[in-house]
Amino acid sequence: MKIRFEGLTKRFPNRDKRIKTEVVAVDHFTFEIPDGKLVGLLGPSGCGKSTALNLICGLETPTEGRLFFDEDDVTDIPAENRGVGMVFQSYALYPHLNVKKNIMFPLQNLKGDKKMTKEQMEQKALEAARIVQIEELMDRRPNEMSGGQQQRVAIARALVKMPRVLLLDEPLSNLDARLRIQTREEIKRIQNETKITTVFVTHDQEEAMSISDIIVVMKDGAIHQIGKPQEVYDQPKNLFVAKFLGTPPINVFNGKIEGGSLVIGNEKVLGKDFVKDTPNQEVFVGIRPEGLLLREGKDGKQTGSEGAFTTELLAIEVMGRDTSVVFSHTASEIAGTRHRAIVSSDNAIDPEKKNVAFDLNPKKVFVFSKDTQERLL
Ligand SMILES: Nc1ncnc2c1ncn2[C@@H]1O[C@H](COP(=O)(O)OP(=O)(O)OP(=O)(O)O)[C@@H](O)[C@H]1O
Ligand SMILES: [Mg+2]
Repeated sequence: MKIRFEGLTKRFPNRDKRIKTEVVAVDHFTFEIPDGKLVGLLGPSGCGKSTALNLICGLETPTEGRLFFDEDDVTDIPAENRGVGMVFQSYALYPHLNVKKNIMFPLQNLKGDKKMTKEQMEQKALEAARIVQIEELMDRRPNEMSGGQQQRVAIARALVKMPRVLLLDEPLSNLDARLRIQTREEIKRIQNETKITTVFVTHDQEEAMSISDIIVVMKDGAIHQIGKPQEVYDQPKNLFVAKFLGTPPINVFNGKIEGGSLVIGNEKVLGKDFVKDTPNQEVFVGIRPEGLLLREGKDGKQTGSEGAFTTELLAIEVMGRDTSVVFSHTASEIAGTRHRAIVSSDNAIDPEKKNVAFDLNPKKVFVFSKDTQERLL
């Protein structure tokens, strides 16, 4: 099922009554989630992710705008009639009920022709448990299971009514690193199998990138960019999105466009082909760690020569397949930042050297306006 937002907005009065301004938790959302896709809502804490989910499931009513499931306007339909399954951040299983009873719980209050017999409910619970592979644990209580198993019970409970939409609010936040990766693959598999339109909330960009068909990058209630993870990574629309995606993060410098060249410090790092006809101005230059190509390793040219980006070498960190070259630069956006280039471990660098020079891969260099922080090149 498609989910369509039309100018959907949620404003909260400020918690501090003396302050008259409102908090705009969700600011005029207008976009469509295609049928059967897994969408990652990604953004820093407080940007409105949970509020967006609560609007979809009906736990919050919008201040403005409409919400559609396929062609049906569901804005005024109560939560229990929307056919939405939700897994909350704290997955909140009932501690005194075993797994089977926890999963069956949402089926017990069904009314009219939807009402089920005990046998039917048990059958549905077993089917949901099979999807998340916990059918052997049906008699256990929550405190007799690992975090990951409890997480799966919560997902089974959300799936048991075969919802039209599945909402997951930071469902992996309580798991350790290994279990997180396992469970996120599990969620991807379940979603693939059931084809239920799913919205997955996280503030972890790597998590969102790895499982989403589409990511929605948010900040302060507003959508900054929507697209396939790789597209958003390769073509960030503004400085915020560029900085939010990628580990290690993008390196940002103060630079300028001057007479057909991109200049950082006093070096022309890229030329006319890159800059095109952009007028002279001060800019932010973002360079992905993999966009910095070791110069000496390649052709033996010295630092300071034409086209080089010369930096101060701080450290070399060998990490198996890759090597991190840690460096600083006086034109850093935030003075004193330790920047990183990721290069192949085959390139030996003398850690005693004072400077290291790079060529730039123009596909990995983004230029942003100093005024608007929107991308120019
Ligand atoms: N019931 C409420 N009353 C007033 N303000 C609220 C209410 N719920 C949320 N907010 C505010 O709305 C904004 C968005 O909150 P929300 O919980 O949606 O953020 P989030 O992106 O889910 O954050 P997190 O990653 O920390 O869970 C925040 O500024 C929050 O303080
Ligand atoms: Mg939240």
